[in-house]
Amino acid sequence: MSIDLATTPAAPTTPTAPVTGSPASPRQPLSPNALRRIVRDLAERPERWLHRVRLSAEDRWYERLELAEDYEVWLISWLPGQSTGFHDHGGSRGAFTVALGELEELALGELEHGLAVRRLAAGSERAFGPQYLHDVRNTASGPAVTLHAYSPPLSEMSHYELRVDGLVRTSTEGPEQW
Ligand SMILES: [Fe+2]
Repeated sequence: MSIDLATTPAAPTTPTAPVTGSPASPRQPLSPNALRRIVRDLAERPERWLHRVRLSAEDRWYERLELAEDYEVWLISWLPGQSTGFHDHGGSRGAFTVALGELEELALGELEHGLAVRRLAAGSERAFGPQYLHDVRNTASGPAVTLHAYSPPLSEMSHYELRVDGLVRTSTEGPEQW
C-alpha cells in the first residue's frame, strides 16, 4: 500500500505515565482487537471522515486521519479494479473495516489452509498480527471506502508476488515513499 504522509496533522498523544526508577520504556503495541475497536468506532461516526473521502482513477486514494505515538489511522478509497497486491505491514499489527461498498481479501495467514479468499461486505472487519500477508482488492462494480489502524505506526511495507512456489518478496518501501 502506498501512503501519503503529508496531509494530516498529528493527533495529540496521551502522556505516558512515568516509569519509576528506570528509563521510559517504549509503549507496547495495541492488540489487533484494540485496533479493531478503533476502526469500528470510527466507522460509526461518518461525520468525522466522510467529507474527506476522494476518489482517484490512477490509484487508491488515502489520507492519514490520526497519528499517535503507538498507532495511526488511515482512510482509503477504492475504485473498481484497484488493489494493493500482496503486502505485509512491516511488523505492525493492524485492523480495517469496510465502511462503504465491498472488497475482497486474499490472505495466506493460515498456511495449512492455503489461500483464503474472503468477500468483505460493508461492515466487515479484519484484524491481524505482525506477520500477516494479504492482498485487498475491489472486485465489485462500485467504489469502496475503508478505515485502517496500525500499531505501531507503519515503518515499512514489503510487496510480494504470488508464484507457483509461494510468495516472493519483490520490494520494500518506507515512509519516504509514502
Ligand atoms: Fe494491508
